[in-house]
Amino acid sequence: MANEDQFKKVISHAKEYGYVFQSSEIYDGLSAVYDYAQNGAELKKNIRDYWWKAMVQMNDNIVGIDAAIFMHPTTWKASGHVDAFNDPLIDNKDSKKRYRADVLVEDYCAKIENKIEKEVKKAEKRFGDAFNKDEFISTNGRVLGYQEKIDSILKRLGQSLEKEDLADVKALIEELEIADPMTGSRNWTDVKQFNLMFGTKLGASAESAMDLYLRPETAQGIFVNFLNVQKTGRMKIPFGIAQTGKAFRNEIVARQFIFRMREFEQMEMQFFIKPGTQKEWFDHWKETRMKWHLSLGMGNDNYRFHDHEKLAHYADAATDIEFKFPFGFKELEGIHSRTDFDLKQHEEYSGKKLQYFDHEDNASYTPYVLETSIGLDRMFLAVFSNALEDETLDDGSVRTVLKLPAVLAPTKAAVLPLVKKDGLPEIAKSIIEDLKWDFNVTYDEKDAVGRRYRRQDANGTPFCITVDHDTLEDNTVTIRHRDTMEQQRINIADLRDIIKKEVDVKHWLQKMK
Ligand code: GAP
Repeated sequence: MANEDQFKKVISHAKEYGYVFQSSEIYDGLSAVYDYAQNGAELKKNIRDYWWKAMVQMNDNIVGIDAAIFMHPTTWKASGHVDAFNDPLIDNKDSKKRYRADVLVEDYCAKIENKIEKEVKKAEKRFGDAFNKDEFISTNGRVLGYQEKIDSILKRLGQSLEKEDLADVKALIEELEIADPMTGSRNWTDVKQFNLMFGTKLGASAESAMDLYLRPETAQGIFVNFLNVQKTGRMKIPFGIAQTGKAFRNEIVARQFIFRMREFEQMEMQFFIKPGTQKEWFDHWKETRMKWHLSLGMGNDNYRFHDHEKLAHYADAATDIEFKFPFGFKELEGIHSRTDFDLKQHEEYSGKKLQYFDHEDNASYTPYVLETSIGLDRMFLAVFSNALEDETLDDGSVRTVLKLPAVLAPTKAAVLPLVKKDGLPEIAKSIIEDLKWDFNVTYDEKDAVGRRYRRQDANGTPFCITVDHDTLEDNTVTIRHRDTMEQQRINIADLRDIIKKEVDVKHWLQKMK
């Protein structure tokens, strides 16, 4: 299936099965704002829990907080967001569509990258088992040419953005003959900067109202609480503060469903360290975060690191963990070595000392910070789009199945009486009553059992438990596994253990070791 078709299918499946709805749909929706429906809210919660457990529960030197969305406006002056949280935008004069200039250039490079992938696939076919991908990429003339082109374009883009040379960004777009992706027009305006923060007001009367911003990242709620947490939690460096919560950005280009939203949720962790140790911690968190992703079994080839050429004003090293979404490899998580920039800025603007006294060194210093920051909605899209499959079965029929990692699935098991009589519904309901203390389970008696299996497959439910007439005799049921469609006859008393083994967080997170 073409990538675009697959992506359309992801969006419609998310709606049809109660995962994601367009916000205020009855009023024709609100652009780039989405609501999580009954299954989506559960999946989102499970992803959040999986992150929280890996970060906070599994690390005795990381604690979690929940800071407010509203913050004192000086926060955003200190953090640099008032002056520098801008995107370079460009308008197409014919279509009147607005784009991020840097994204247009990056998308151009992604097309060249696709050509590299095609060359690799062709060579793979030609050489079979003898194929060595790394060697091919580093020696094939055509591939090297493509890569050189990508590197030189991205280098120039990085330098122009660094120098705020927006005229050169426009010149690059024109030289590469980049056209409006919607209409093909190359009639561009100049590139301008656009601040992404949403403003609002606090206070009843116009005279006394204070200008506020909706936070564009959760990180600053952690920085301003650094000393409070360190003192009250008696935390010793190195230690981390984690939090999950909403962030808001007035994105210029808000397409691609929940990939880029105006209201979204972040899961961030700031790790406070001794100055000079940042390289070691950067490598540590790069590796640890990648292991967290891989533990979910969504395919090792679907992830890659992308080290930043152009560093944000606060960072001395940065990388993205990119995931292969239906529209190509894109940023899923950022890992940034933020130096002491934020704490120093807040010291300067607040006039309060934000230092740590190191008893071993008998000296105070401003800690450096290593940040891991992942978008919960983006992670949701990664999990959901990767899971959705149209699988052709041996008999030629096609089943739509959502192969969500069982630990994240909204509903862990559906209990199905074979028929709506003979006491089978009563047994099914008693199984529900028992299992619901441990798992999210659902009851389904409508339609033939085969159709019910398909419905649960499409919904992502890892287990179906069928109660039939033999159950009346021997207390056994059939348990069907979503991915393999294998069926086992087991005792009702064993259900809990069998399900737990597959959906338990411990079983999954241990794969990080
Ligand atoms: N505190 C650092 C920070 O906010 P970022 O790279 O701007 O860094 C971190 O954002 C992560 O938040 C991204 O990797 C992405 O997953 C998510 N994110 C950022 N903007 C988003 C948006 N408009 N919609 C959905 N997720 C977004």
